[in-house]
This record gives sequence, structure tokens and C-alpha cells, in this order.
Amino acid sequence: MYECIEVVGKGSLNGSVVAGGAKNAALPLLMATLLTDEPVTLSNVPALEDITHVRQLLEALGSQMDLHRIGLDGGAVTIQTKELSRHSASHSLIKALRASFWILGPLLARCGEAQVSLPGGDIIGARPVDIHLEALTAMGANIELKHGVVFATAPHGLRPAHITFRYPSVGATHQILMVAARISGTTIIEGAAREPEIESMAELLSRMGAHIEGAGTSRILISGTPHLSGTSLDLIGDRIEAGTYLCAGVATRGKVTVNGVRPAHVGKLLDIFSEMGCEIERGNNSITVDAQHDLRGVSVTTGPFPELATDLQAPLLAALCTVEGESSVEETVYEARFRHVAELWRLGAHIELSDRCARIIGTPRLSGAAVEGHDIRAAASLVVAGLAAEGSTFISEPHHLRRGYERLEEKIAALGGTICNRIADAEDLMFSGC
Ligand code: UD1
Repeated sequence: MYECIEVVGKGSLNGSVVAGGAKNAALPLLMATLLTDEPVTLSNVPALEDITHVRQLLEALGSQMDLHRIGLDGGAVTIQTKELSRHSASHSLIKALRASFWILGPLLARCGEAQVSLPGGDIIGARPVDIHLEALTAMGANIELKHGVVFATAPHGLRPAHITFRYPSVGATHQILMVAARISGTTIIEGAAREPEIESMAELLSRMGAHIEGAGTSRILISGTPHLSGTSLDLIGDRIEAGTYLCAGVATRGKVTVNGVRPAHVGKLLDIFSEMGCEIERGNNSITVDAQHDLRGVSVTTGPFPELATDLQAPLLAALCTVEGESSVEETVYEARFRHVAELWRLGAHIELSDRCARIIGTPRLSGAAVEGHDIRAAASLVVAGLAAEGSTFISEPHHLRRGYERLEEKIAALGGTICNRIADAEDLMFSGC
């Protein structure tokens, strides 16, 4: 017996939901609060397991947390770290969430030294941190790798630098923005990531007292100050969560509106839906996708923003499995991000996989099955496909969904779909006809 999520299929999703605050903005912004000893308040923080994890990491380092209405829409948290009780983060703290590694920069900037466990690879690929470490070295840090731990010191202080990234790494851009914001002088990052979450980081650091130009472009200039102050910021809506609900609407040929998210942040996905034959309405802070049409297959490629987000590859691929004709999906960001394909096969999807490319022959006849969600977005793709399939789909390892989708059952219900928690053996549930 174990926990699984039952997704009841074959009804089209219609209606509107509100996107929560962006998880991938909240995680680094929580870490950026370490750069000051004054209180920083973040609002529209989603109640997700990944957020709880980073809060626990900060508490272990000496931060005081004041939670206001966490768990409801627009939960807020005030964090103050008057003094750091330590400047190290062990493997047990880092391994649960790779992004925890980004704590290295704020610790080093504030304490002049830091020891943080290497994140290692994970299920979607190798995920190295060489870009982070090369940039910190250019800023005057001494970096040593021993026993799986990064030992960083800055015996002569950190200095501004002119850094060129070989790839627009999201994590490295966050990390160097945080460090540069606390150093006097101007740091330039060339080849920076352009994701909306980077603009959020720049906004927070500017409110704390740094001067930042170019966030959202590939060249960012940061003029920092050692005396960053407390401030507050309301998080942007989660473009990946929003995109997932829109994919579910498309897979079920419904009409779904997501409020609380800027269309430009979802970007390329909406162009892809248009090419498939959907009608798109872009509001200031809302998106409607009407998929009640004959749809056609498309060829898509993931890439750094503004290209199709790798985090939306799995949910989109699931939607494309329902579209008659041929589609293809190329994954350029992570080498091993196709583990959902084997699970989608169990639902009857026709997908051929070669290296980093999936060729899909769409079918309107997916059928519910017992499947495993290997990571957050893989599990989300199974929700999307399950909603479009005949019968029920049982997804084991549902904790992955809790990492990235706040109140999933409630939001799917608002769109007319059904998802519920089950404690059972998924295969047994199928054969008992539940
Ligand atoms: C972040 C997001 C993740 C998203 C990804 C790409 C969060 C918490 N995570 O992850 O959801 O899928 O961006 O948009 O916001 N790389 C290197 N060396 C490095 C760093 C990265 O080679 O030092 C490579 C990675 O292996 C990968 C690519 O660069 O192939 C992208 O990585 P990066 O942008 O750093 O992703 P993350 O920050 O880990």
C-alpha cells in the first residue's frame, strides 16, 4: 500500500484558475534575504514542499521566519537573519533540492567563507556547477573541492568582475547577482540567463539598495553595496504552473483561463499553441487558451528563455500525444529529461525516442494506467495525459507534484476535472475497477 494520485480522465477542462507565486523565483529570493541583517518580506509565496525546504535551510543557518497566511493565496513570509549561526550547508540539506546549492553565494558574500555540499546529478541530467564556480573565482573567491563539498573563501574580500557565461545558466545568474549586489563596484555578466525569475531577483536586490541594469537581457550590470537593507516584494505568478494548466486544457480540448500570470512570461508556449490551431487571448495578467478546435501536430525545441522552457517540455509533450498527426519535441537543456515517455507509453501514447528527440504520433485514444511520476514535471505530464485518457490514471510518488503544484486537486476541480489522493496499490485499484 502506498500513496498515489488518481486522475479521472476524459472530460474537457473549462474555466479559470489563479497561478500561485513563482516557485522558481521564490527559492532564490528566499536565499537572497541572507544578504542583509534587516527583515525582508516576500508575498505571494506558494505553499510548496520546495519552499518549506529552503525555509528550513535558512532556519538552520540562523534566520528568523515570520509566516503570514502561508497556505492561502498570497501567503507572505518575513525573514530576518541578524546573525548567521553557521556558514555551511551539508549534503543532507542540499541533496533534497538542487537549487539549495545557490546558498553558496549569499553565505560567501556575507561571511567571507562558505562550505556547501555539491548538488550532484539528478534524475534529469548531470547538472554541473562549473559556471557558478568559475564566476565566483573571477570575483576573488578561492574554491576548493574536497569530500564532495565546495570550500569557498575570500581572504582578500570579493571584487567586482567582468564575467562571460559559456551558457545562460539560471542558477549561476542568480548566484552571481546575489554576490555582486553586496560588493562595491560594478560587475558585468555577459551571456546571462534572461528568465523572468532573474528579473525578480534584480528587482529584489535593487529594492535592497543595489543598482542593476539589463536584467532580462543577456548583459547585466550590477553595482553593489556592502550595506543592503530590508525591503519587500510581491512574487510574480508561476509561468510553469500556468503553462501546465494550459497544456491540460489543450489535451482535453477545453478552454482554460489562467489568471495571475503575465503572457510574456509564458512566451513561446503560447506561440506553439497558436501554431497547433488554438485561439489565444492575452490579458495584462491572464491567458486564455481555447482548444475546442481541430488541432495539428508541431515540432518544438526547448531552450533558455524566451525559447520553450524545459520545465514545460513534459506537459506539452503529453498534450501533443492527443493531437492527431506527427509532432516532435527536442530537449536541448537537460540530457535525460524524457523519463515521462516510458510512463506515457503505458497510457497508449505513440512516441519514438532517440537521444534528445521524441517523435510523437498523436492518438485520441489514451487509456488510464498505473504510472510513476519521476520528477515534478514528469508527474505533471502524467496529470495532463491522465485527464485526457479514458478511465483513471494512478500516479505513484505524488510528492513530486507537491513540490511544484499548490492545491492541485482544488485547481483541477475549478476547471471541472477530478484528481484525488488514494492510499492503495495503484495496479490493484485499476483491476478493482475504481
Ligand atoms: C533552473 C530551474 C529549472 C529549469 C532550469 C532551466 C529553478 C529552481 N530551477 O535550474 O527548473 O529547468 O533552470 O531553465 O529555478 N549547466 C552547466 N554548468 C553550470 C550550470 C548549468 O553546465 O554551472 C548546464 C546544466 O547542466 C543544464 C543547463 O546548463 O544543461 C541549464 O542549467 P541551469 O540554467 O543552471 O538550470 P538550473 O539553474 O539548475
